Amino acid sequence: MVCCIQALLMLGVQLALTDWALAVPSTPTRFFYHDYLNGKGKINFNGEKLHVDSAQPSVFAVRGGNATLPCRFWYEPELNSSREVRVKWSWYPVVGEHETDVLVAIGSRSRSFGDFRGRVQLRQDFPGDATLMMTELQLNDSGRYVCELVDGLEDKSTSVKLELRGVVFPYQHPRGRYHLSFLGAQQACEEQDSTLATFTQLFQSWKEGLHWCNAGWLADGTVQYPITRPRMPCGGHGLAPGVRSYGRRELHLHRFDVFCFSSALPGKVYYLQPYDKMNLTEARQACVENGAEIAKVGQLFSAWKFSGLDHCDAGWLADGSVRYPITRPRRNCGPSEPGVRSFGFPPPQHKHGVYCYKAEDE
Ligand SMILES: *[C@@H]1O[C@H](CO)[C@@H](O)[C@H](O)[C@H]1NC(C)=O
Ligand SMILES: *[C@@H]1O[C@H](CO)[C@@H](O)[C@H](O)[C@H]1NC(C)=O
Ligand SMILES: *[C@@H]1O[C@H](CO)[C@@H](O)[C@H](O)[C@H]1NC(C)=O
Ligand SMILES: *[C@@H]1O[C@H](CO)[C@@H](O)[C@H](O)[C@H]1NC(C)=O
Repeated sequence: MVCCIQALLMLGVQLALTDWALAVPSTPTRFFYHDYLNGKGKINFNGEKLHVDSAQPSVFAVRGGNATLPCRFWYEPELNSSREVRVKWSWYPVVGEHETDVLVAIGSRSRSFGDFRGRVQLRQDFPGDATLMMTELQLNDSGRYVCELVDGLEDKSTSVKLELRGVVFPYQHPRGRYHLSFLGAQQACEEQDSTLATFTQLFQSWKEGLHWCNAGWLADGTVQYPITRPRMPCGGHGLAPGVRSYGRRELHLHRFDVFCFSSALPGKVYYLQPYDKMNLTEARQACVENGAEIAKVGQLFSAWKFSGLDHCDAGWLADGSVRYPITRPRRNCGPSEPGVRSFGFPPPQHKHGVYCYKAEDE
């Protein structure tokens, strides 16, 4: 056993020395070697150790808003000279868990990447401030953000979870229950101005009363459903309320419904019925003639949740479904709980009003 541990240690030292040689070829390695064998995993030159932390493990925000992801670093004992430290922020989205670069900075120079370009910057309010400021948040910005500090051989990191607040809604394919593969589910949500819900978002909605007896995909590739009122077709009375999981499912093979997530949106959703009720073609046209467009399902849900939209007339939506939003339940307007009521996908020649979406309030 002892032999093996030694062998491992030797291997570790050799790997470390190789890194060292690559990073700073002309500096003696003796000190580092000792330090490594001390087993503390801390590498330093004059005894100062780099520390990093985040004041907040999670940050909550809404679509279109800003988020501040805290991160600060310091040395112990304190440095009496400034040292060039490299700050790197990366993102682990909920879907896929692969790392994406967000921003890299050395001193006052910084660079942001991909979709984050122009939307992120380091705050740098005080020495050691590596806080990331994000603007114009998008629905799919949720995930884990890692703040990594590199000073020579020292490399420390901390992470902050960004959660968007919004509304979760179950979505079914027009052909009915359980027709969506994972990719189909992702696309269906995007077409309705939303994104796949995360488990945290579904769990939050369940706490707020979401009850849905069909299983749906979530962003992490699991299939789950929220039950607040146990009854026969949803596993029976014996089971406690909760979010029930089928676990991870095969992304291409298996088919379910989906839970989509939408957040506050700029602009407004309203009911329109210019003269008579309309078929789907006429409904789309009526919104356009009104300087708007037919509303998507995610837009109706976010208007219901964030603007308190309440209208007891069924109207067409962009996906060909017919729904209406109720925040103040009353007689002849569906069940006794608030919600967006659905009539599914009627034949397109049926006549209804329409819900339109106008991007800017006038
Ligand atoms: C977000 O930050 C930008 C620039 O820092 C600011 O102009 C804007 O008003 C902020 N938006 C919100 C919703 O706070
Ligand atoms: C840092 O402090 C040490 C001891 O206090 C001093 O000898 C050294 O000159 C200082 N270095 C700088 C760059 O100020
Ligand atoms: C996130 O959403 C935005 C706008 O909705 C889109 O342009 C972008 O491609 C999406 N990014 C990812 C990684 O899916
Ligand atoms: C809707 O009605 C118009 C006539 O006003 C007709 O041309 C159109 O084909 C109808 N569309 C559907 C989907 O029934």
